Amino acid sequence: MKGVVLAGGLGTRLHPLTKITNKHLLPVYNKPMIFYPIETLIKAGITDIMIVTGGNYAGDFLRLMGNGKEFGLKHINYTYQEGEGGIADALSLAEYFADGEPICVILGDNLIEKNIVRAVEKYRKQKDGAKIILKEVPDPERFGVAEIKKGKLLRIVEKPVKPESNLAVIGIYMYDSSVFDIIKTLKPSDRGELEITDVNNAYIRKGKMTWETLQGWWTDAGTFESLLRANVLVSQTGANNMD
Ligand code: G1P
Repeated sequence: MKGVVLAGGLGTRLHPLTKITNKHLLPVYNKPMIFYPIETLIKAGITDIMIVTGGNYAGDFLRLMGNGKEFGLKHINYTYQEGEGGIADALSLAEYFADGEPICVILGDNLIEKNIVRAVEKYRKQKDGAKIILKEVPDPERFGVAEIKKGKLLRIVEKPVKPESNLAVIGIYMYDSSVFDIIKTLKPSDRGELEITDVNNAYIRKGKMTWETLQGWWTDAGTFESLLRANVLVSQTGANNMD
């Protein structure tokens, strides 16, 4: 399985911090934000990694990480997203890199306390389809939210006004190679983006989606509140713990 870290976008919710750098290069406690999702993949045994970036500071990723020596990697792949097409648009740029293999996609601003080893192992045994990871949160209206009835995942609603559950879809997704065909069928949402939630709903409709729940804390870091929370949580427990 290959890994894809999505680190594009303009990070407008963090202006003025993101006027002079990419959101994913901002510090979270003692490391740049993007180090955490890269470590999440590596600790799950995924070492063939592509970073999709964009915006005005894409070159800084190369200066920061080079070929990934600091992570024990021999090579990192990079690609560049033109414009602000959303998460699924950024992911479409990884088709050539994936080359027909399954992929684990992680958003560059998603941090976790523990690890995804078990979820990845289970997905590796899955013949095809996709897997998402869910986490109970106090503020589900900020995220993609899972609607589950009698243990069955019915659909995901992106930022619902009245959430059907408190289970957020975290920004770590596993897909087979059909994800790229699904993306080609998508239409932009009201916020003008190709939504990853539409990709996930396509898998659900085909009966090809499985899900896990996450142990330990999870946070994004794309707003001032969540960036502060990420800093505090990492300082208290560290991230990507293996126990
Ligand atoms: C995105 C996804 C959302 C998901 C979240 C996780 O939201 O659209 O479904 O729950 O990431 O961080 P965004 O950060 O683009 O608002």
